[in-house]
Amino acid sequence: MIKEQIESLRRELEQHNYNYYVLSAPVISDFEFDSKLKQLQEFEKAHPEFFDPHSPTQRVGSDIASGFEQIAHIYPMLSLSNSYSEGEVQEFYERVRKGLNENFELVCELKYDGTSISMTYENGVLVRAVTRGDGEKGDDVTANVKTIRSIPLRLHRNFPDKFEIRGEILLPWAVFDELNKEREAQEEPLFANPRNAASGTLKMQNSSVVASRKLDAYLYYMLGENLPADNHYDNLQAAHSFGFKISDATKVCKTLKEVSEFINFWDTERKNLPVATDGIVIKVNSLNQQKNLGFTAKSPRWAIAYKFQSEKAVTRLNSVTYQVGRTGAVTPVANLDPVQLSGTTVKRATLHNADVMEALDLHIGDMVFVEKGGEIIPKITAVDLDARLLIGDKVKFIKNCPECGATLIRYEGEAAHYCPNENACPPQIKGKMEHFVSRKAMNIDGLGSETIHLLYENDLLKNIADIYELKVPDLARLERLGNKSAQNIKISCEKSKEVPFERVIFALGIRFVGETVAKKLAIAFKNIDTLEKATYEELTAVGEIGDRIAQSVLSYFSDKQNIDILERLKSYGIQMSLSEDKMKVSGDTLNGMTIVISGTFEHHSRDEYKTIIEQHGGKNTGSVSAKTSFILAGENMGPEKLKKAENLGVRIVNEAEFLLMINGGKDVKVEKNGFAGTLF
Ligand code: IVH
Repeated sequence: MIKEQIESLRRELEQHNYNYYVLSAPVISDFEFDSKLKQLQEFEKAHPEFFDPHSPTQRVGSDIASGFEQIAHIYPMLSLSNSYSEGEVQEFYERVRKGLNENFELVCELKYDGTSISMTYENGVLVRAVTRGDGEKGDDVTANVKTIRSIPLRLHRNFPDKFEIRGEILLPWAVFDELNKEREAQEEPLFANPRNAASGTLKMQNSSVVASRKLDAYLYYMLGENLPADNHYDNLQAAHSFGFKISDATKVCKTLKEVSEFINFWDTERKNLPVATDGIVIKVNSLNQQKNLGFTAKSPRWAIAYKFQSEKAVTRLNSVTYQVGRTGAVTPVANLDPVQLSGTTVKRATLHNADVMEALDLHIGDMVFVEKGGEIIPKITAVDLDARLLIGDKVKFIKNCPECGATLIRYEGEAAHYCPNENACPPQIKGKMEHFVSRKAMNIDGLGSETIHLLYENDLLKNIADIYELKVPDLARLERLGNKSAQNIKISCEKSKEVPFERVIFALGIRFVGETVAKKLAIAFKNIDTLEKATYEELTAVGEIGDRIAQSVLSYFSDKQNIDILERLKSYGIQMSLSEDKMKVSGDTLNGMTIVISGTFEHHSRDEYKTIIEQHGGKNTGSVSAKTSFILAGENMGPEKLKKAENLGVRIVNEAEFLLMINGGKDVKVEKNGFAGTLF
């Protein structure tokens, strides 16, 4: 009885998902949908015996970190050869005509600008979703893909037993804009374009965050032994009837003229679409003819991409100014006569770094080409030399910091120039404080960049330790900041004293020490005093910490000003050592050992084992060598690795032996949330 109820609710919710996300024609309100979903969740919770991985409740994601397994593609994921003019499209048409020597049809589609995905369906259910990777093998991102509402977990009807379907995962413009607005408010780096945002999202470890990002997907290629039709277009229509989202902008063209009309129409019309497109894809319709034309090493001979021109404008370069970021990196910015580009007024463009600037050979007063491409920040692509009547001063990268005057330096192998005056250069000081209070660091509310600027200007804040000395009356006296906000800032400061040690390390803003490295340092050194005394050798012995990070950590702790700040932070009660429970999951049994992981395991994922190894002082590497201490081998260990291990006489340790080695046989606790669970 309850089983039937659960199944009927599942079917009903699947239909509503399809109506909403594929047909864009919902028949019930969001509220009704949510109540039904909640009801189903409750039933499923009460009756775990009826669990189904394809239930609509499984789309909400999970916060269990899931290192991605690499899966080999059955059919390699090739790319398309690109063309940029109708002349090249005509050449493609001629090649196909000669190659086939019979009548043929073409299918024109939009080229969606996201990240590609290959999904396998067996008996009507989604069994696997894999990224393109290197074309031969990709990451298994099934858990994340399941959160995308327009991708059916269970198909409607008359589907082949087994097939693959490929398409593009996209982050709609509206979601992209919203996401970047949020990131700006949280002082996180912005995504350059929806493509990067989509692929970044798809690779996230936490599928519940993926679920919140509202990804979408269009499918454009079906592969398999028993496909419904003998031509591409009909297969796409069949896929649509199974429940997949197929673009309406798909057209069978019989002549080159029709192809050209399709291109011209969509070149402008695409701007009204909710997702990013960067061209047109033209494919031979008949599967038989596709087979006859075959593939080159990289791409099919039966298809070509036509890329839209990215929008360009010409304007005058008035000056170049320089911005100093939190880390001291100096970015040159071109100030331009305002010009219209892709619907917005452009006044500034990034020049990236000294090399890019030099390559452009810029002179003040030059007419320059600005392009937006898929990026949000426009860039200068060239100088219009024909328009250079009077030559202005050549633009040369500055030698001194525009904010504090210090001589700039350039680290080996890096494109950026840096201001080294970390503790006395105003944007760096303010930037360090903004970073310190940010959500992923100490999470102190109420201290946005403007407030920090104001406090800095009023001499109330000079470094991160001063934050804890702020007094409510001083704060309340500031413009725009009432008594209530002042009190809230103090409360938030107090709360930040509970922020765990690994986040404190991150908050310090040591150059090159991001969240992941901070966690590694916390685990390896356990408290600030040991970290402060760590030598170069000790630092580089920690997995993934190389020369650059080690030098930066050493330089941070060699600065007396930093030591004073740390002493003060300690005296205020900031967490300066790893918490008890995190100490427990770590040890030093594997100190100095280099371990290779291979195969699949029963108790933990490979990524969890990677973390466990690091937590116990070991280092995980990918390939077997004479330096390998042992191989942690699960089921189905790769034959190559096995052979190499045998040849080199490297010991093979199975899962049970390994657990015995580090924890006397008891299973090891790996927290799923926040700490080890974020799997480095
Ligand atoms: S067909 C064997 N159709 O463009 C060719 N690709 O360089 C299979 N793309 O990686 C691809 N829209 O991610 C095809 N309508 C479309 C497409 C499309 C976007 C992407 C895809 C692929 C790249 C080709």
